[in-house]
Amino acid sequence: MKGCLPLAALSLHALVLLLHPAASSAAHDYADALAKSILFFEGQRSGPLPPDQRARWRGDSAVSDGSLDGVDLSGGYYDAGDNVKFGFPMAFTTTMLAWGVVEFGELMPPEQLRHAAAAVRWGTDYLLKTIAHPNRVFIQVGDPLRDHECWERPEDMDTARTVYDVSPERPGSDVAGETAAALAAASMVFRETDRPYADRLLDGAFRAFDFADSHRGAYSDDPDLKAGGCPFYCDFDGYQDELLWGAAWLRRASRNDSFLSYIQDNGKTLGADDNINEFGWDNKHAGLNVLVSKEFLEGQIFSLQSYKESADSFMCTLVPESSSSHIQYTPGGLIYKPGGSNLQHVTSIAFLLLTYANYLSKTSQYVDCGSLSISPASLRAQAKKQVDYILGDNPMKMSYMVGYGDRFPRRIHHRGSSLPSIADHPQFIACKEGSVYYSSTDANPNPLVGAVVGGPGEDDVYEDDRADFRKSEPTTYINAPVVGVLAYFAANYGAQ
Ligand SMILES: *[C@@H]1O[C@H](CO)[C@@H](O)[C@H](O)[C@H]1NC(C)=O
Repeated sequence: MKGCLPLAALSLHALVLLLHPAASSAAHDYADALAKSILFFEGQRSGPLPPDQRARWRGDSAVSDGSLDGVDLSGGYYDAGDNVKFGFPMAFTTTMLAWGVVEFGELMPPEQLRHAAAAVRWGTDYLLKTIAHPNRVFIQVGDPLRDHECWERPEDMDTARTVYDVSPERPGSDVAGETAAALAAASMVFRETDRPYADRLLDGAFRAFDFADSHRGAYSDDPDLKAGGCPFYCDFDGYQDELLWGAAWLRRASRNDSFLSYIQDNGKTLGADDNINEFGWDNKHAGLNVLVSKEFLEGQIFSLQSYKESADSFMCTLVPESSSSHIQYTPGGLIYKPGGSNLQHVTSIAFLLLTYANYLSKTSQYVDCGSLSISPASLRAQAKKQVDYILGDNPMKMSYMVGYGDRFPRRIHHRGSSLPSIADHPQFIACKEGSVYYSSTDANPNPLVGAVVGGPGEDDVYEDDRADFRKSEPTTYINAPVVGVLAYFAANYGAQ
C-alpha cells in the first residue's frame, strides 16, 4: 500500500523526511566523542596543573589540600560541578577509567590511550596519597555544605577544606575497598609501560584492601563522617560489596590465589548471592558479577558459576525479548532509573554489556535467560542503542555530551564552566558574587568539552537549565565508563 502512494499525496513534511532519512540513521563520530570524553577529566582536575594541560581555561586550585591535617592531599578530581573531593566516587571513577583501558585500551588510537592513562594516573596519584599514612585513609577534602553555598571557581575557592579520614576506630571498608579496586585495576594499565609505578599501585591496593578487611564498617555510619559525605555520597548499600570487588580486582591484577579463596570463602557472608541489579559508585554488584564471571568462563573456576548466573540475570533485565522483569526505559528508549544523574546508570550498564559480551564471545558462551539465549552481539546492540541515544539519536535530537555534535547542553551545572575563566578574568570572584553567572540564561563561557550530563527525564525531555542539577550536572562517574565504551564503538563502527 505504501509503495502505491502517489508522490503528490505526500505532505511537504513527509517529502523532506523521505529525502533526508531520519537523523538517527547518521553514523556517529565515535572517535571524536572518545577523545572528548577523556578531555573532560582535565576540566575536573584539582591541584597544580601540569604543563601539558589541554583544558587551558582551568588554573591551579586547592594546592594546599591536606594542610589542615599536616598532610599532602593535593590533586585528584572534583566529583562534579562543585569543588569537593569525595573519595568514594573518585575511587570508583578511577576504577572504571582503568577497567576501560584494561578491556578496550588496545582499541584506542595511541594518542587517546596516552590521554586515558594520564586520566587514570591523575586519580591514582591522589589515591596513593590518601593511603600513605598507617592506619588512616583520607576519604574527602572540602566541607560540602559550605562549598555548595557558593558559586565559585575552584581557582578562587575559599571555603573550608576540611579533611575527613577513616581509621581502625572509625572504619570505612567501602572507600578503602574501592580504593583497593582502583589501584589494582590501574596497576594493569601501567604494567607494560611503567612497571615501578604498577608495582607501587599493586602494593597500595594490597594495603588498602587489608585495611578495609581488617577494620570492617561503612564510613557513613560514623556521625562525623556522615556529616561530611552524606547526603551526597552516603554508603547506602553497605561495605560488603566493596570488599568482594576489591578482592576481585586484586585477584585479576595479581593472579594471587589468596584473593580467589577470599571470594570463594566470603561470597555468601558478604552478600554475593543477593543478586542486586545495580552498578554505580555505591553498589558494585552487577559489575562484580561480570568481573568474576571472567574467572568462571576463562579460568574455568567452576565454584564461581553463581557469578555468571547473576550476571546473566542482570543482562536478561536489559534485553526486551527476555521474559524476566525489565528495567525501565523512556519512550525514546533510554535506560531510566529515578534519582537524578540518570546517565550514570546508562554509561555503566553500557560498559557492562560490552565487557560481558567480550567475555562470553571469547569462550563461545551466551546469556541464559531461561527459555531464551541471548548472544554477545545482542548485548552489543543494546549498548549501541544507549550510546547512540546519548550522542543524539533521541527525541530532543541533541547530544548529551558537551561539545559533541551541533546541539548539546550549553548551561551545565558546573561552577568552573559557568563562571568566566581565570585566564580571561583573573580578578577574584567571591562566593556570592558568582550568583549572577549561576542565574544567567547565557551559555557557559567555558564549554567543559566531553562532559556527559545527568541527562533527560523519564519523558526524554531536557531543558538545559543550569539550576536543574539532576539533569544538567556532569559527574566523573558518568564519564568514566563511557571512555571504554566509545573506544569499542570507535574501533568497530569508526570508518564508514
Ligand atoms: C598473596 O597474597 C597474600 C595476602 O593476601 C600474601 O600474603 C602472599 O604473599 C601473596 N602471594 C604472592 C605470591 O604474592
